[in-house]
Amino acid sequence: MTKRPIIIDTDPGIDDALAIAIALFAEELDVKLITTVAGNVCLEHVTNNMLKLLNFLGKDIPVAVGAGKPLIEELVDASNVHGATGMEGFDFPEPKTELLVDEHAVTAMRRVIMESDEPITLVPIAPLTNIALLLSMYPEVKQNIKEIVMMGGSAGRGNKGVMSEFNVATDPEAAKIVFDSGIPIVMAGLDVGWKALVYPEDSEKMLKMGKTGEMAYCLFKKYRGGSFNTGLKMYDSCAIAYLLCPEMYTMEEAFVDVELSGSMTRGCTVVDLKNYLHQTPNAKVCMDIDGEKFRAWFLEYVGKCI
Ligand code: RIB
Ligand code: CA
Repeated sequence: MTKRPIIIDTDPGIDDALAIAIALFAEELDVKLITTVAGNVCLEHVTNNMLKLLNFLGKDIPVAVGAGKPLIEELVDASNVHGATGMEGFDFPEPKTELLVDEHAVTAMRRVIMESDEPITLVPIAPLTNIALLLSMYPEVKQNIKEIVMMGGSAGRGNKGVMSEFNVATDPEAAKIVFDSGIPIVMAGLDVGWKALVYPEDSEKMLKMGKTGEMAYCLFKKYRGGSFNTGLKMYDSCAIAYLLCPEMYTMEEAFVDVELSGSMTRGCTVVDLKNYLHQTPNAKVCMDIDGEKFRAWFLEYVGKCI
């Protein structure tokens, strides 16, 4: 089997942690680089969390540190959801700092993309600041990017604003640069993230699966992305699920733009399903998910982890 080469851009983040663990142990994927960006919590915490997670999982993946704030606005984080340090509830080992590369995330992404024999898939599961900087500073990378499979946006209501999803709303200008880039995009937004739920019985099963399952159980007890008892939202795993099991999704091709100036709608993704704007579709949007297939997939792949 040829492994699909990917770069993950992330802001761990409890849901990020499970998405990354699944990606690292999936035999279908080859994680070439992980880049960090301020989002759920500050850059220092998300980077430390990433290095702790890799130490815990025993995976020596290079990590490059990226943007410490959105392009224009100051960071408004999600520590209310993930805890003050972003990955609370489990006693991780020390951060494996030797995994840090001596490059900014943008230059590291450019190097990995341009050196790759195969087109790279970018998997941003965080605000899109690093990706926007990459495409703006080094547009030549577009020739060797297969597609961008992102967790972000919403065709409907929001989780940061009335109509805006956290990753896009945190850095709307960055998101617009990405959607305007001409690179094939898969958008796994809240329309599926809200239905990608893990229930108590799933967490109890994971507790008996091994180290990663135990870690998940402990983190989920602290995670405020939903409720441990009525369903926890595995937002970021939706992007990984598309790579590994796209058949669980109902997809629509659509033109997607990002509202930048609406006094109440700044940061929302405008998903034009009926071509009112007469624009060529620029994204494949995950509009629905088979929740039971997701649960089975999630447990299967957590079971492949240590
Ligand atoms: O809206 C959900 C997204 O915001 C996820 O990536 C989660 O980790 C947070 O960053
Ligand atoms: Ca995230």
